[in-house]
Amino acid sequence: MSNQQVIPLSVPNIAGNEWKYVKECLDTGWISSVGSYVNRFEQMVADFAGAKYGVAAVNGTAALHIALLLAGVKQDDYVLLPNLTFVASANSIKYLGAEPLLIDADPDLWQMDLDLLEEFLENETDERNGELIYVEDGRRIGAIMPVHILGNMCDMDRFLSIVKKYPLPVVEDATEALGTFYKGKHAGTFSPMGCFSFNGNKIISTGGGGVIVTDNEQLAKEAKHLTTTAKASVDEYYHDEVGYNYRLVNLLAAVGVGQMELLPSFIKRKKEAVAFYKAAFEGLADIRFQKELPEVQTNGWLFTIQTDQQQKLLDHLNANKILSRRFWMPMNKLPMYKNCPYVQKKDNADYIYNTCLSIPCSTNITNEQLEIVAREVKAALT
Ligand SMILES: Cc1ncc(COP(=O)(O)O)c(C=O)c1O
Repeated sequence: MSNQQVIPLSVPNIAGNEWKYVKECLDTGWISSVGSYVNRFEQMVADFAGAKYGVAAVNGTAALHIALLLAGVKQDDYVLLPNLTFVASANSIKYLGAEPLLIDADPDLWQMDLDLLEEFLENETDERNGELIYVEDGRRIGAIMPVHILGNMCDMDRFLSIVKKYPLPVVEDATEALGTFYKGKHAGTFSPMGCFSFNGNKIISTGGGGVIVTDNEQLAKEAKHLTTTAKASVDEYYHDEVGYNYRLVNLLAAVGVGQMELLPSFIKRKKEAVAFYKAAFEGLADIRFQKELPEVQTNGWLFTIQTDQQQKLLDHLNANKILSRRFWMPMNKLPMYKNCPYVQKKDNADYIYNTCLSIPCSTNITNEQLEIVAREVKAALT
């Protein structure tokens, strides 16, 4: 093993005013649940996404939980979800006593397969009293959650034209897609509520955090209410429903404001890394890239390649301190979700899981590190 430094996969890049803003919180004592940075952060995220309102949450999972609740998902409902996603999407459904109904991935885009979705809705559901029912077991389908996997997007025009034929609320899991646009419209704004995450590996990070964006004032108010223990009075501890302590603290929102100021430069750097890797790996062995539709401008969040030599490449890179990782294990392989209905023909999710790996692409990755990664990928595969 060389004496080369570890090259991380995707780590926070604290490079702007974060220290200054956090110090201000510490100096003034405004570190907790109230403070001006929360409002500023919410507004900055909403403005960037082109939405009217932003509601901060303690993390992306909590944001998804609240968005699903407000979309009307209830105990024993199904929520349509891509099988290939991070477990938090499915967990947010389970928190409501509902169950994911899994749809396989598109083999090229790695997003929910729209052909399968369309066929499923046409052939396996029925509308009864204004509700969408899964014919197989008579349970209601309460919502659909498209996930913008790796900051990429499916054909959103087609997606919306499919789902609008049914009574099917949409909640976007845009947790990975801050900085991604479809025909100039930001991810997370194609449905009444979209959710972002700011955990440590995301394009900006608050350590942990999330934001729900919406154009609907009523939904924004209700989301704020539910994420802040449903306190209905300023002077008294009067709470009018079971709320959640899901608020993002001012200290972390201060980090978020510093990070949002840097977001355009982070997106630029992600795109440079993507362009570098694509040029370096074009035609190399059996490497394939995630397909992007011409209408989509991705944020290049987590650069991921596909090869049938996945294990060999992972072993080589990790042995050389180049931290790389497989895709998430598909939901139908996890004990909590293995009995969920799964709509599939070829189980593309399984193939993607077994062939894809993400390689270092932090926003502070140096050109020298990019060269090292490319060199070692080539060494492993040729
Ligand atoms: C697809 C997806 N959904 C949901 C989440 C949950 O976000 P968080 O980790 O902020 O709770 C994440 C990120 O971790 C994610 O990648």
